Amino acid sequence: MKNYKNVTVLDHPLIKHKIAILRDKNTGTKQFRELIEEITTLMTFESFKEIPTKKVKVETPLETCEQEMVPESSVAIVPILRAGLGMVSGVHTLFPTAKVGHIGLYRDEETLEPKEYYCKLPEGIEHMQVILLDPMLATGGSACAAIGFLKKRGCKNIKLMNIIGAPEGVKKVAETHPDVEVYISTLDRELNEHGYILPGLGDAGDRIFGTK
Ligand code: PRP
Ligand code: URA
Repeated sequence: MKNYKNVTVLDHPLIKHKIAILRDKNTGTKQFRELIEEITTLMTFESFKEIPTKKVKVETPLETCEQEMVPESSVAIVPILRAGLGMVSGVHTLFPTAKVGHIGLYRDEETLEPKEYYCKLPEGIEHMQVILLDPMLATGGSACAAIGFLKKRGCKNIKLMNIIGAPEGVKKVAETHPDVEVYISTLDRELNEHGYILPGLGDAGDRIFGTK
């Protein structure tokens, strides 16, 4: 795959270890959900290395010193329903007061085109750093549609986090939205004829919510 300036493939050994368990068809719903949360926290940690901080004064038991803190209210988390919901608590671990918006999309099974069914975003989101969440980036149709909603609302700072990406989806998002920072944990081989990622992990929503 071509190297895109706005795409980072984390490829971290500790994340890869967790993804290996996630892929296993014998991993049950409880462990699957926990792994999604843990991987998301690790991804958040990695992708916010450059977040601006503000200087604060702290009194230790010994003296006053100048420290750095992150202005938390500036972050909004937006999961793409349903599977993105499984990642929200993983981001909240590091940004506990972040507001949450929701974008509801499902893929039409025949055309693979995203269909919108819900969109509710926090007031003032256009001034926030938005973290858009979906464990799977397959054709990229859902991610591009969600980014389109966010941009229509005036959002300018968008990070997209996907646990597994297919080359087709990465290309589509990277080329359609070069201003969006894309973080994926691992890049898989390809899509099959039904738009599923190979080797992938199956249907992320079904595995998170135990619906199949
Ligand atoms: C899955 C996944 C993404 C989308 C990725 O959701 O969670 O949202 O497919 O595919 P794309 O990149 O080709 O758009 P799905 O549509 O199955 O809905 P669900 O989360 O409700 O199961
Ligand atoms: N959505 C999923 O949940 N899994 C895939 O492999 C592709 C899209």
